[in-house]
Amino acid sequence: MKTGITELLGIEHPIIQGGMHFVGLAELASAVSNAGGLGIITGLTQGTPEKLANEIARCQEMTDKPFGVNMTFLPALKPPDYPGLFKVIIESGVKIVETAGNNPAQWLPMLKEADIKVVHKCTSVRHALKAERIGCDAVSVDGFECGGHPGEDDVPNFILLPRAAEELSIPFVSSGGMADGRSLVASLAMGAAGMNMGTRFIATQEAPVHANVKQALVDASELDTRLIMRGLRNTERVLTNANVERLLEKEKSLGADLKFEDIMPEVAGVYPRVMKEGDVEAGAWSCGMVAGLIHDVPTVKELIDRIMSEAEAIITQRLAEFQAA
Ligand SMILES: Cc1cc2nc3c(=O)[nH]c(=O)nc-3n(C[C@H](O)[C@H](O)[C@H](O)COP(=O)(O)O)c2cc1C
Repeated sequence: MKTGITELLGIEHPIIQGGMHFVGLAELASAVSNAGGLGIITGLTQGTPEKLANEIARCQEMTDKPFGVNMTFLPALKPPDYPGLFKVIIESGVKIVETAGNNPAQWLPMLKEADIKVVHKCTSVRHALKAERIGCDAVSVDGFECGGHPGEDDVPNFILLPRAAEELSIPFVSSGGMADGRSLVASLAMGAAGMNMGTRFIATQEAPVHANVKQALVDASELDTRLIMRGLRNTERVLTNANVERLLEKEKSLGADLKFEDIMPEVAGVYPRVMKEGDVEAGAWSCGMVAGLIHDVPTVKELIDRIMSEAEAIITQRLAEFQAA
């Protein structure tokens, strides 16, 4: 399928795997790229420029197709070495960067100079327009359904995507709640040039995470996510568990007095315990409402091929029937 996003990024299918902390490693990114989508390595998971250089090199050994690196700007107690990480991305020859969390303007001149395409992920039309104005090549429009950080506007994709289509000139992909061929066709219908998936890609054979995490997503329904850190204006959608419910109790009882330190036990250092050790109850970890649409753990290629054939069938059969009627 050819769209503005496949043309821009040089990929076969309009499907992107969004950056995911402790999930977006070379194994998953290369599998997505080899299957014709765009795989993305999560820069901050590596921690140091040297480790990121190593992960990029591993991915380059596993695929000769384009892949990207995610750079997330979020409040951190100890800010990462962003200049060092961007230097490594440029020097390693990566040609696509997904930015998220905050305005990437500061980094655009050096990325453009290196002929790198920038896809900025954001959760509102105003931030998407800002990204377009500062020179990003495309945006991922992340609706309220999404796993991770949906922002504070709470606009779901049925409204957000057509609004983005009304305002943007650069190509955009849908993000949040995307799982299958129906998601892709709906995204295209609403003006997107493809879709970005996070949670769905975790439940694949190649995702380098513990089997318990994949099973937790198969077991979860669309009712099993919660929004945490609202009071800190750093809202995150996570899979519920006893620690998340305790965190929410603290948020309720402390109200406006809540500080990040109060919820440290439920959020700090959780990702390695969940993703590597399989302790899915360890604390809060991102998960989208789309968990309700995840029923199996296919290979990445099976998933992407299935999405594309479902999309094709919906367009040529289901939708064509309505045209004839
Ligand atoms: C476990 C997990 C970790 C994530 N980590 C990041 C991250 O580090 N940086 C980022 O920009 N987005 C991150 N995301 C968001 C995804 O890239 C993507 O935007 C989101 O998952 C889309 O919604 P979906 O889960 O409904 O597909 C994460 C999502 C999940 C599920």
